[in-house]
Amino acid sequence: MYKQILRPFLFCFKPETSHKLFLALVRFSAHFPGRYLVRLFHRYDSPSLKREVFGIEFRNPVGLAAGFDHNGDHFNELSDFGFGFLELGSLSSEPQDGTLRPRLFRYKKQKALVNLLEARNKGVRYTIDRIQARRPDAALCANITYNAGSKKDDEIANDYQKAFSLLYDFVDMFTVSISRPNSDGLLEVQDRNALADIIDPLLEFRLCYESYKPILVKFSPDTPLEQLDEMIDYCMLSGVDGVVAGDTTRRLDLLDASRKPEAGYLSGAPLFERSLAIVKHISEHTKGRFPIVACGGIMSPEQAKQMLDAGASLIQLHTGIVFEGPKLVKKILKYLADNPS
Ligand SMILES: Cc1cc2nc3c(=O)[nH]c(=O)nc-3n(C[C@H](O)[C@H](O)[C@H](O)COP(=O)(O)O)c2cc1C
Repeated sequence: MYKQILRPFLFCFKPETSHKLFLALVRFSAHFPGRYLVRLFHRYDSPSLKREVFGIEFRNPVGLAAGFDHNGDHFNELSDFGFGFLELGSLSSEPQDGTLRPRLFRYKKQKALVNLLEARNKGVRYTIDRIQARRPDAALCANITYNAGSKKDDEIANDYQKAFSLLYDFVDMFTVSISRPNSDGLLEVQDRNALADIIDPLLEFRLCYESYKPILVKFSPDTPLEQLDEMIDYCMLSGVDGVVAGDTTRRLDLLDASRKPEAGYLSGAPLFERSLAIVKHISEHTKGRFPIVACGGIMSPEQAKQMLDAGASLIQLHTGIVFEGPKLVKKILKYLADNPS
């Protein structure tokens, strides 16, 4: 139904408007009996899909990637589509505005998006209120970033600590986003020391708590492999629990389209081969001993399985949901259950 009716309707609008409309429909579906029907037609549970990664029990390995539900307004309704975990954010300790429109471009034939969205969000306090109102029955991850206006290294590190400490009691795990643009430009951490400046204080802070919340680092697929290896080695030695590989890419040349913006961040189908290569690389580099959450260009059940076979423990979807619809989650889960590795 999504591809035949809903997508043609949603794609009549500009990409940001159609995303808002989609979320409004998701919200509407939560009213009785919609929620029951969404669950009936979308959820797929099987004992073979359950897995334990970084000490958390996931009911299945398919997650929603960051940027889909930035502020956490819709995670309860989105969890009805069968996700095993949902990532909110990127969230900063203070609210952040975004750039002027247009800032999201859709490439229908290529099944791709280019965004210039920056880490626009209402701040962690807003999201905490949403989480306190009601929790989903899937694991909740907060993706954290720094505030617009912070330029010095110590200011940026403080921003991460503040967002982390405010959210600590309210989510199950964290992703630290280190390649996010904000209205002051792009923070792209590409060396071990810069990464340690951000992560070490979070690891120290975690020691003060009785409860243990896994910390993952989300890497850009544009990071040169040598630096990536160094940063992964640091993560493994320091006590980081895993990596998200990866994010959107600045390599717009991967997009085979005549008209494309001069700059932006590409996601969707053209990203898949690059993301898969990085997952394979990290898995080989760490000899399969470090949990990987694969993200980037997964648009089909077969691609989801390729990522898991390449060494990922979990996968995440964003652009795939936009083009294939939320039923993609169930299709992937059924395929994984029918074709165990
Ligand atoms: C519109 C849009 C907004 C995004 N916002 C964020 C964000 O705020 N933080 C983040 O870590 N990733 C963000 N991402 C990246 C996604 O989480 C994901 O890593 C990337 O899109 C690759 O996966 P995909 O090809 O399945 O979309 C965003 C992606 C898109 C398309």
